[in-house]
Amino acid sequence: MSLSGRRAVVTGAASGIGAAVATRLAALGAHVVVCDVDAEGATGTAERIGGEALALDLSRTGELAERAFEADILVNNAGIQHVAPLERFEPERFAFMLRLMLEAPFLLTRAVLPGMYERGWGRIVHIASVHGLRPARTSPPTSAPSTASWACRRSSRWKARRRASPATACAPGTCGRRWSRTSWRTRRRCTG
Ligand SMILES: NC(=O)c1ccc[n+]([C@@H]2O[C@H](COP(=O)([O-])OP(=O)(O)OC[C@H]3O[C@@H](n4cnc5c(N)ncnc54)[C@H](O)[C@@H]3O)[C@@H](O)[C@H]2O)c1
Repeated sequence: MSLSGRRAVVTGAASGIGAAVATRLAALGAHVVVCDVDAEGATGTAERIGGEALALDLSRTGELAERAFEADILVNNAGIQHVAPLERFEPERFAFMLRLMLEAPFLLTRAVLPGMYERGWGRIVHIASVHGLRPARTSPPTSAPSTASWACRRSSRWKARRRASPATACAPGTCGRRWSRTSWRTRRRCTG
């Protein structure tokens, strides 16, 4: 498969899954825009894969709604993990997660779809979580953005596919040292 001539935007690509996806897309020939709030990390990934860095805080959704984006491939990957029992889950943290992991993907998808329809080709991937399919018992609010992301993907897929822009979602389990360490530490705290 060659993605030569395609422009890919990968969010949260300064590290982890996003950086791996960006690396693979670049290896297949795509021009990759490495979008991340971590400007230094984004530049590092972009330099390594011959792409372009875009430093952006995706939780600032007011500003995001005003911006124009062009992409043949959009990978909505940026996210954070926060695990806490519901009664101690900070409302602002919950709102932040919804902005970053639900509202920003919606705004980016909304921005790139018209161009994909026009060109008759596009791919949209949402990196959700296994918790979107099987809610986290220890921290119910953690599952909310992923569950909603699955629902949006399902309802938008049919129409988008008919217009040549299939959307899909992935549900990673725990992977990567940073996440596994947090997961196990906080899970122990939540469950005793
Ligand atoms: N690693 C896992 O075990 C796991 C499990 C389930 C789901 N996921 C999902 O996979 C995705 C990637 O996870 P990862 O393990 O690679 O994590 P990671 O922490 O390595 O990467 C996340 C990236 O998102 C960026 N980011 C955070 N806040 C941002 C913001 N406000 N604006 C722009 N970028 C921002 C970070 O700087 C970071 O580079 C996340 O959406 C996460 O929910 C991961």
